Amino acid sequence: HWHGLHVPDTMDGHPRFAIAPGERYVYEFTVLNRAGSYWFHPHPHGRTGAQVYFGLAGLFLVSDDEEAALGLPSGRYDIPLVLQDRSFDRNNQFIYLGSGLLDDAPTDSLDRSPMMGGGMMGRGMMRGGMMRGGMGSMMARMMGVLGDEILVNGRSRASLSVEQRPYRLRVLNGSNTRTYKLAWHDGSPLIAIGSDGGLLTAPVRRDYVMLAPAERIDLWVDFARWSAGSEISLQSLAFEGGMNMGGMNMGGMMMGRSALPDGAPFEVLALRVEEGSQGAQETAPPARLSEVPSPDPRAAVNFDRPKIFELTMGMMAWGINGQSFEMLEASPYETVKLGTHELWEFRNDATSGMMGMAMPHSMHVHGVQFRVVERTVSGRFAGYGESARAGFVDEGWKDTVLVMPGERVRILVHFADYPGLFLYHCHMLEHEDGGMMRNYRVTV
Ligand code: C2O
Ligand code: CU
Ligand code: CU
Repeated sequence: HWHGLHVPDTMDGHPRFAIAPGERYVYEFTVLNRAGSYWFHPHPHGRTGAQVYFGLAGLFLVSDDEEAALGLPSGRYDIPLVLQDRSFDRNNQFIYLGSGLLDDAPTDSLDRSPMMGGGMMGRGMMRGGMMRGGMGSMMARMMGVLGDEILVNGRSRASLSVEQRPYRLRVLNGSNTRTYKLAWHDGSPLIAIGSDGGLLTAPVRRDYVMLAPAERIDLWVDFARWSAGSEISLQSLAFEGGMNMGGMNMGGMMMGRSALPDGAPFEVLALRVEEGSQGAQETAPPARLSEVPSPDPRAAVNFDRPKIFELTMGMMAWGINGQSFEMLEASPYETVKLGTHELWEFRNDATSGMMGMAMPHSMHVHGVQFRVVERTVSGRFAGYGESARAGFVDEGWKDTVLVMPGERVRILVHFADYPGLFLYHCHMLEHEDGGMMRNYRVTV
């Protein structure tokens, strides 16, 4: 799957095209997307989490003339940073859901679905989670896998030596479930020049940037800001993740899910600033980057009745509007007309499920780049929203959007060029594998 690319449905890596070992499927398409940092990963249903965790994911950089004309830092000054968290066993092997073996990944979600399995926990969960990996693994399968080491481009305790000059840092959150709250160690503002779908109209400044699984942020930084010899760092700050109730971290340590709960602070990347050849005068990025028209919600055919997608927790499994994944199905509600715009609203009201369980979700729509038109947050969860709110970069084209507990995010989507069956889902990969994924159908 080419995450973020606008391609025909048969070229999108939908799980209905998953191939068995030894089989082949030829992907052939024209890249129509504008310059940006896209990425790729496999998408076999129920196995995406394991396959990405064990290494099958990478960046897919698209460039074009508009971008080239800006003269942004390039070559060795254009640095991809893929952030992933992993846990290792005593032999330095990956641990995924209580096991290091890829074959232990669930083979399908049907036997884990509470509707199908009957009872509190589906058979698969009992088999793969409870019995093999214990309580922590069962929680991880449901809430998402968190590693206790942070890897940057596959390295733990990553460090980088930089010159006193401008750089472009393309950051991808390639983690299965973890969200990052990125900031410079000294509170210097982060300057974002692009997001999921390429360049913004103009650079934006943020004290921190929230980056949910699958989101990308394109940062511009002139290291001349710091004196030669400085040891600086890119960090992830503390925030209210999900499942923190009354100071008790249900999803993290309490349940043995990870020694590093979602929302815990840590260092992402250590940098050492070397003397530059350009002199130590800090410069600014181009004031004008690209043309990103502001979204017009009135373009939507359902302007008066946005489609609501509730992020729901059923019996130990996440869903969308209470529904789970079905390989070839899209309901009439999930059917859209080719060439139209629609307003969709993802609601993380967290009213369903046990104990008002609340978690952020990272909502992704295949085949398109959309615009965020509105965010609202409800009283009960105002705190979660507050610790994240100032860190959203919603100005540009997006394919994935973080929906914090209590939040409602309204997006404007244009279904252009390609009819067919596409996915939309939570990009927290264990949620997705567990069924928090649905199809939508584009009809002519
Ligand atoms: Cu990154 Cu369904 O995709
Ligand atoms: Cu995708
Ligand atoms: Cu989710």
